[in-house]
Amino acid sequence: MATTLAKSTLTKTAKGTDGKDGKDGKGTDGATLDVAARIEHVSKSFATPAGQQLVLDDITLDVARGEFVTLLGASGCGKSTLLNLVAGLDRPTAGAIGTDGRPALMFQEHALFPWLTAGKNIELALRLRGVPKAERRERAEELLSLVRLDGAHGKRVHELSGGMRQRVALARALAQDSQLLLMDEPFAALDAITRDVLHDELMRIWRETGVSVLFVTHNVREAVRLAQRVVLLSSRPGRIAHEWSVDIDQPRRIEDAAVAELSVEITEQLRGEIRRHGQH
Ligand SMILES: Nc1ncnc2c1ncn2[C@@H]1O[C@H](COP(=O)(O)OP(=O)(O)OP(=O)(O)O)[C@@H](O)[C@H]1O
Ligand SMILES: [Mg+2]
Repeated sequence: MATTLAKSTLTKTAKGTDGKDGKDGKGTDGATLDVAARIEHVSKSFATPAGQQLVLDDITLDVARGEFVTLLGASGCGKSTLLNLVAGLDRPTAGAIGTDGRPALMFQEHALFPWLTAGKNIELALRLRGVPKAERRERAEELLSLVRLDGAHGKRVHELSGGMRQRVALARALAQDSQLLLMDEPFAALDAITRDVLHDELMRIWRETGVSVLFVTHNVREAVRLAQRVVLLSSRPGRIAHEWSVDIDQPRRIEDAAVAELSVEITEQLRGEIRRHGQH
């Protein structure tokens, strides 16, 4: 079953040292975006007891419409910080971020409401998007079917396995009908087999929906298994250290020789970044 994503309104949200603020969703300069996400010269500092800590330094990155990009880097290098900025949950210290409509989010923790059923969790997202009540049930069923959870509408969250919960969380993210899906280590807590199955499902859904994905992971194999492009962040501060376009035919398997070969190359670079910054 194919899901069509509604054409999102083009918005440009931005905030930097220039003081421009696109929180009205109309954009800073009225420009429309020809990409799903545009990150332009973004830096982010946090105030710490030791002073300002520069976490992200001059990040420039586009995610094309329909593209699947994985963001890779050592723990603490600023991956989640960058994703939160793209999500609009926080503001960059400098630079600008534009997205094609409001992005949908999916995190390592499913963040489903435990007092609602799987279906009602999805219906809530549909309600927030303004989908009329009469259509919500059917749409939720369709989304559950898309993530291969037919018949799970009435199940409570505690009745579902970890993998099933992440499927519901994915369905709920897709319910937002966003052009851009931001995923922060969504499968990190799952066992290897379940993760493998969900990789296949995510690839199928990505193809079927045409959604653009920015996927954060520190698992190199996972990054190569999924992405059209892998972006490696350095640490302290996070900068774009390297990018690879992944020209390996899909469907891929995590154990494919070509996936392994590129993963070795990327891991070498990642090790170099970690050594350079004295992390272990
Ligand atoms: N709100 C905040 N206030 C202060 N420091 C923060 C805040 N959020 C993140 N940091 C710091 O920014 C750095 C990057 O954190 P971030 O969570 O983005 O890393 P990450 O790459 O996602 O790591 P991991 O792979 O472990 O999830 C860390 O040093 C963290 O302590
Ligand atoms: Mg993180």
